[in-house]
Amino acid sequence: MTRVARAGLVSALVVSFLSIDVGAVRLAHAESEVPATNPLTGNEAAIREGRSWFRAACALCHGIHADGAGERGYAADLRVFKLGFRGYVETVKKGRDVPGRAAKMPPWGGALSDQQIYQIGAYLETLAKDGANWKEASR
Ligand code: HEC
Repeated sequence: MTRVARAGLVSALVVSFLSIDVGAVRLAHAESEVPATNPLTGNEAAIREGRSWFRAACALCHGIHADGAGERGYAADLRVFKLGFRGYVETVKKGRDVPGRAAKMPPWGGALSDQQIYQIGAYLETLAKDGANWKEASR
């Protein structure tokens, strides 16, 4: 192998190691970006915004009162949500398939910003019933 070729190979290796590294850092960063609890909890302005986003984007399936009784049939009762704030954000971003049921939770990651998802969460927390969990995941 010529010196130039070897230098090229070495720098290609270095670059690929670097990009693996950067990828891993980015992934870790993306996961840690979602705080353990909602930074907008109790924020009146955020709750108002969240209510209108909820009515526009979610109520069709989850019902105007978030009890799961939307026009489109059954979706989860969000007043008894138990998966914690990170579980909420993850579910809303990625959506959820329910095997054997036509109704699916669509993924919202591309349509709503984190801020909007947090605002909706702050609103939903105001509707939470006893036993609901919007803090740390209970798993
Ligand atoms: C097309 C109908 C539809 C729309 C629109 C919709 N959802 Fe859902 N959602 C579902 C279905 C179906 C499920 C799954 C229910 C199940 O697992 O039994 C679900 C589940 C969820 C869950 C998990 C509930 C749990 O207890 O595990 C959350 C949180 C949620 N939706 C939030 C939202 C939010 C916030 C919006 C608006 C941005 C929204 N959904 C819009 C249908 C919908």
